[in-house]
Amino acid sequence: MILAKADAVVRGLVGEILARFERRGYTILGLKLMHVTQDQAKRHYAEHDGKPFFPGLVDYITATPIVAMVIEGEDAIEGCRATIGATNPIKATPGTIRGDYGQTIGRNLAHGSDSPESAQREVAIFFNDQELFPRAHVL
Ligand code: CMP
Repeated sequence: MILAKADAVVRGLVGEILARFERRGYTILGLKLMHVTQDQAKRHYAEHDGKPFFPGLVDYITATPIVAMVIEGEDAIEGCRATIGATNPIKATPGTIRGDYGQTIGRNLAHGSDSPESAQREVAIFFNDQELFPRAHVL
């Protein structure tokens, strides 16, 4: 699962981000502009609970709408994370989303699930079954 986070929406980079996944040949199974609740944010970032940046992370992701996407394809988790680039944009390779557009670690534009288990957990936080479309819709 991918999030185009608040800075991506505010800076008008959602289309650019989405295009990169489409051009790699991944299939979009879910896509929505949404406000994230405090509860969703805390569950999504539970592994960071207790870290100094956690309150800021929750504030940031709940402050303005974000775009949540479910992307499917061969090795999609690894491929999407490679497309997004390193967490800290300063260390992200040019050509990646963060390497091309990211500013700081706290404003790094996109989030990508890091394993099939976290993808499954995160999709359930942001989407219900009616909002997900089976791969069969693709010609
Ligand atoms: P993301 O992929 O959304 O997952 C967790 C987020 O925490 C990460 O992107 C960063 O935006 C943020 N993050 C990680 N480390 C730090 C840090 N040291 N300071 C501020 N934000 C951080």
